[in-house]
Amino acid sequence: MNNKIITIDGPSASGKGTIAKKIADILGFNYLDSGVLYRILAYIYSSQPDFSHDINTENIQQCQQILIDKFNHSKILFENNNIFLENINITSFIRSETIGTLASILAANQNIRIQLLDWQRKYALAQGLEGLVTDGRDMGTVVFPNAKCKIFLIADVNKRAQRRYEQIISQTKNQDVKLNDILLNLKQRDERDINRSSSPLKPSNDAFILDNSNLTIEETVNIVLTYYKTV
Ligand code: C5P
Repeated sequence: MNNKIITIDGPSASGKGTIAKKIADILGFNYLDSGVLYRILAYIYSSQPDFSHDINTENIQQCQQILIDKFNHSKILFENNNIFLENINITSFIRSETIGTLASILAANQNIRIQLLDWQRKYALAQGLEGLVTDGRDMGTVVFPNAKCKIFLIADVNKRAQRRYEQIISQTKNQDVKLNDILLNLKQRDERDINRSSSPLKPSNDAFILDNSNLTIEETVNIVLTYYKTV
């Protein structure tokens, strides 16, 4: 199974999701966007009226178990790029920058990560021998350390902000969004993901570090596929 797992880690908006999905399609593998799991948790958190909106490490400690239980008992479905929670399509809600920020705060909690670690490994096993492409921050270092093909995808932060900006404009038609706010948000999220003690964002020793700042999606996909064939 390990030679049929491709992990793609890297900072926010480095193109992981787009590349991972394309590779999965080409190889006929399944795809798991692990960030979605943290975003679902953030969504569950934000829909609890009794959870504090002023989120900090202390109140996460207090509500982590409730949150994990709710997650474990929820019916989660991935279908045609949509995410359903209890049969409700929550895709556009969880893609917001607010949920992304909340997800990254929750993702620093060790208990939450341990629970999701289990979930992700079971998910991979359930795919059988079909193969899996998965993207996130710790797929190659922690979740699937024995995967044969590990990519760490990076890109210049200004390029990432520009890409995210264009994605938001085209997906939400929200013209109020400011490039500078996105840049600031990305930098804060990177810093939180890199500096947390539990499963920080970093390349594993055996990862192929690929800078796609000046590459097209197709060029990046081809480089990853060529690399996959050699490992
Ligand atoms: O990748 P995405 O932006 O959807 O992830 C949302 C947040 O979830 C990230 O900012 C990161 O803090 C967290 N995350 C993580 N580990 C993963 C995937 C995502 O900590 N494997």
